[in-house]
Amino acid sequence: MKGWVVVAGLGPGADGLVTPDVAAALAAATDVVGYAPYVARVLPRAGLALHASDNRVELARAAHALRLAARGRRVVVVSSGDPGVFAMASALFEAMEGRPDWQRLEVRVLPGITAMLAAAAAAGAPLGHDFCAINLSDNLKPFDLVLRRVWLAAEGDFAMAFYNPRSRARPDQFRQVLEVLRTRCEPDRLVIFARAVSTPDQEIRVVTLDTAREEMADMRTVVLVGSSRTRAVGRFVYTPRSA
Ligand SMILES: C[S@@+](CC[C@H](N)C(=O)[O-])C[C@H]1O[C@@H](n2cnc3c(N)ncnc32)[C@H](O)[C@@H]1O
Repeated sequence: MKGWVVVAGLGPGADGLVTPDVAAALAAATDVVGYAPYVARVLPRAGLALHASDNRVELARAAHALRLAARGRRVVVVSSGDPGVFAMASALFEAMEGRPDWQRLEVRVLPGITAMLAAAAAAGAPLGHDFCAINLSDNLKPFDLVLRRVWLAAEGDFAMAFYNPRSRARPDQFRQVLEVLRTRCEPDRLVIFARAVSTPDQEIRVVTLDTAREEMADMRTVVLVGSSRTRAVGRFVYTPRSA
């Protein structure tokens, strides 16, 4: 039997936000590969091998999936949200570099609903005009570059989505990000802390930049910062479509 690899996004958490295409790929798979908490979201069944691994081994995990597919297995590599947003799809293509045999395999990327879009929908429409997404983790880039990109995004008056805002290993860096924002944005700029969106633990908290604090974010939070035009209407937050 011919093997394949599908890189699939499981969405932000709710079963209803898993696309039918992703569900069909999982139903056809012989193997699921991914970071342990994401693999745990896949229902076990007879004939399905689950390969859970640690967070920081993305390239090794991608190579493992490609090796399995080359042996004729039907492999789904799972990410949360969308697999192309700070996730496994890029790692898979990186692992294929210099491997013409792996480049000839059947490989597909199936999109998922990324955290910022689920968070934006829960709050209203804060990303309704131009916006950008920045990963605040310094695992794969220097923190100076993170701060520079935040500064430039504020300078460009983009609404912003911050992934990986804060972790136990770097509890203080998000405070520096807020400080950079305060140099460019007015104190009443709207900031949304969206935690565990679409799960039973979901919390959506809307504050102004002058009252935003680093402890409002953790690794299950995506932070949305409005542009200068973003405003509240009733309990909703939206950005008008005109600049
Ligand atoms: C490594 S990134 C993966 C992003 C994922 N590929 C996506 O498209 O949503 C992990 C970060 O995504 C955000 N995130 C993922 N799921 C979330 C959820 N249900 N609610 C809020 N933020 C979430 C958090 O910022 C978390 O630190």
